[in-house]
Amino acid sequence: MSVGIDEISFYTSNYFLDLKTLAEVQGTDPDKYYTGIGQEKMGMAAPDEDVVTMAANAALPLIESAGTEGVSTLMFATETGIDQSKAAGIYVHRLLGLNDNCRVVELKQACYSATAALQMACALVARKPDSKVLVIASDIARYDLDTPGEATQGCGAVAMMVTASPRLVSIDPEVGNYAEDVMDFWRPNYRSTALVDGKYSTKIYLKALKKAWDHFRYVSPLTFSDFSHFCYHLPFSRMAQKAHQQLVRHNKAGLSAEQQNAQIDKTLVYNRTIGNSYTASMYIGLTSLLDNTAEDLSGKRIGFFSYGSGCVGEFFSGTVVPGYRDALHAARHHEMLTARQEISHDEYLELYRHQVPTDGGEHRFAEGTTGRFRLAGISHHKREYVPR
Ligand code: HMG
Repeated sequence: MSVGIDEISFYTSNYFLDLKTLAEVQGTDPDKYYTGIGQEKMGMAAPDEDVVTMAANAALPLIESAGTEGVSTLMFATETGIDQSKAAGIYVHRLLGLNDNCRVVELKQACYSATAALQMACALVARKPDSKVLVIASDIARYDLDTPGEATQGCGAVAMMVTASPRLVSIDPEVGNYAEDVMDFWRPNYRSTALVDGKYSTKIYLKALKKAWDHFRYVSPLTFSDFSHFCYHLPFSRMAQKAHQQLVRHNKAGLSAEQQNAQIDKTLVYNRTIGNSYTASMYIGLTSLLDNTAEDLSGKRIGFFSYGSGCVGEFFSGTVVPGYRDALHAARHHEMLTARQEISHDEYLELYRHQVPTDGGEHRFAEGTTGRFRLAGISHHKREYVPR
């Protein structure tokens, strides 16, 4: 019996800053961003958006198409948690109208936790094939202003329905893992922006890839040539290009630059204009591959490298299911991205500086999101989510 991703949908904010604008204000060559890190735009969440509203907006189309019947578990992966105790998924459970026998939990390990959620979801479905697990990853990436990380911010959420006999991608049980206690990127509870040792983080990412791949080769009969495409964790798109070059070299695959590029370029389309969405980014990369590849990917095997700073890396594999195109939300994804609104540098700073009030008073937020759910306000430390 195959188990895997039956349907996938993502959401990002309506607002973006073009990195040319950032470069102009900083007096930096825009090519450093467009080519050097491979990013064009970064998404900025509105004051009435957070990981809960983005998650519900990403998941709603799956519920609208398949209903709530059989959804036994909701797993919510994030590193932009809004509460130390209550899982963000509980709010989403209500907003989506999931049944009250549905298990809900939040998972954390930097950008990796969506992959832990996906693997656990596959295990749950394998044990009870008539059940479905809703996996949601949702994050807002924030670094300090005037740091090298600033251009690699972004926001987004992705929702995946995991089922038996999936319509999109069946996931293989063999995985290659790597974990090491390192301080490459972290965010202590008292900070709203991440701390990062940028250059070191890229080195550790590449080390984790090599280690996870070697472990994968040990547990799986698959070799490099069994894969047609690769999805990498995408903090910025150049990172995936560097990672893939390393994997090609490591396997002495002897591919030309064009051949290497063809194995990853369609995974980068969405992320180049959204930015880093942490837990969601690799799965928005998968959506980008499925939505934007002209050739039929049916039966093709995809390699996935998921990385979360701190760090955990995992390499795993999946096969695209024949007929997958019928289950995609490509048109809606394209419309959402095309309808986004560009913001000026001053508007960016205003969104960046928006702080969640902490005084326990009554606070209402102006309408900014164009999504179906919004954070209307915070009253007595309680977040109030409403449909719009
Ligand atoms: P930087 O110091 O601004 O950039 O930081 P740089 O000077 O190294 O330049 C970047 C590239 O642009 C270089 O190319 C330059 O040559 C090129 P490379 O040597 O890398 O091939 N360049 C140009 N190209 C064309 N025209 C030009 C030009 N100028 C320069 N004019 C850094 C870059 C990534 C370190 C920074 O953006 C950063 O700290 N980002 C945040 C950390 C990050 O994203 N790390 C990635 C790995 S860790 C990870 O993925 C986990 C994460 O998602 C968090 C989680 O797990 O939760 C972050």
